[in-house]
Formats: sequence, C-alpha cells, structure tokens
Amino acid sequence: MNNTENVIEIKNLKKSYDNGNIKALNGIDLTVKKGEFISIMGPSGSGKSTLLNMIGALDTADEGMIKVAGIDLMKAKKLNLFRSQEIGFVFQMHNLIPNLSVIENVEIPMYETKANSSEMRERALELLKSVNLEKKIDQKPTKLSGGERQRVAIARALVNHPSIILADEPTGSLDSKTGEVILDLLKELHTKENVTLVMVTHEPYVGNMAERLVTVLDGKCKTDEKLR
Ligand SMILES: Nc1ncnc2c1ncn2[C@@H]1O[C@H](COP(=O)(O)OP(=O)(O)O)[C@@H](O)[C@H]1O
Ligand SMILES: [Mg+2]
Repeated sequence: MNNTENVIEIKNLKKSYDNGNIKALNGIDLTVKKGEFISIMGPSGSGKSTLLNMIGALDTADEGMIKVAGIDLMKAKKLNLFRSQEIGFVFQMHNLIPNLSVIENVEIPMYETKANSSEMRERALELLKSVNLEKKIDQKPTKLSGGERQRVAIARALVNHPSIILADEPTGSLDSKTGEVILDLLKELHTKENVTLVMVTHEPYVGNMAERLVTVLDGKCKTDEKLR
C-alpha cells in the first residue's frame, strides 16, 4: 500500500441501536488516506465513538460500505485477526488491566500473533522506552499517574505495528499539561511510524492539530476541512 491509497473508505454507513429507535450513524461518508492524521469533532451523542468502533471492528454496521486496510468489514469473518494486525486503540479511560504489570499490559495484543515470549518482551520494552516508561515496566497500572497510564495505553496500541491508531478522546481524562504531552507523543509516533491517526476530541485546539478536521452531527459527516 502506498501513501496515496485510502486506508479507510466509508460510504453511507448506518448503525442504529435499540431496535432502530436510536440512529447513531445516519449515512456516514468518509475516506482517509494512508498516513493521514484526522480529527473528528462533534457534540456529545453525535456518533463519534460509534464511528470509531465501526472502523476498529469492535461492532458491526447495519448497512452501507466500510473498507479498512483493504478489508470489507461488512463481509469479513476473522475480525479478531484484523483488529490485532491493523488497529491500535487508545481510549479516554486507558482500559489497562489492573493486576498485570505495565509490560504485561503492553504484551496483550501480541498474544493474537505468532510472536514468542522473548520477542514479545523485546517489542514491549522498545515501545515502553519510546514513551519514556522503561523504569516502570514492572509496576502495576494503579501505581501510575493518569498521563503515565495513557502512555502505557499508547505503547500497547502500537505493539503490533498497526496501520491505524484510533484514539477516542485520548486526553479527555487528563489535565491540560499532561494532555499536551500525550498529544505530542501521538503526533510524533504518527510521523515516525507513518501510522494513520484518527482522533476523536471535543476540544477545538486538539482538533486543530490534525491535518484534517471532520465534524460529525446527528450521525453524519457535516464538514470535512483540510487544515494543512
Ligand atoms: N451500545 C449502545 N446502545 C444503545 N445506544 C447507544 C450505544 N452506543 C451509543 N448509543 C447511542 O448512539 C448515539 C451516538 O453515541 P456515541 O457514538 O457514543 O456518540 P459520541 O461519541 O459522539 O458522544 C447516542 O445517542 C448514544 O446514546
Ligand atoms: Mg464518545
């Protein structure tokens, strides 16, 4: 796949909950090029998280077209494999497992791969170094600060060399200074690893850091604006 190809292609995607009573996605159209950094903004309840969950195959859409990394997600069967190979998730709440150490948490997505335990350790350590946490690898997440936990979550998201990072309000639970560190880190990794970054945020200054800003309203993409 070269840089001009679309890594995400979505056409008229629809998703409802509660037997059709809640229309979360109402005909989303969106394409994202490989290596792009886009942000998604919109009011609470407009469908941002639902859209991210569809891209990451955490849930399935009702109708429309969604292709991610060349895979047609309306037809694909092996979604676990797709997720572990192509997608890295960073959530607002870091979703780390409290009784595993930092390094064990980072290794989790590699259990879906063919890596052996020493390869897993080596890759996890490399990423924990890149987020400046090599001194805390044996700690439990409960002993870490909010920013440190989010750095572990970022390391975990990157461990399988995903083509896409999906970040849902990654700074939402952090103070602004820590949030800035996390954003800088995500941006740096996006540039260095040429990974596609799709970030949901409700903060305009965060949204404006992206190359493109997509606004979602009532389950539809309302505006799609190139920023740089
Ligand atoms: N699992 C679910 N079951 C029922 N309704 C849901 C579910 N997930 C989201 N919704 C509803 O779908 C709409 C869009 O939600 P969401 O995608 O979480 O919005 P956002 O992330 O923009 O705040 C909301 O009305 C929300 O209540
Ligand atoms: Mg949300």
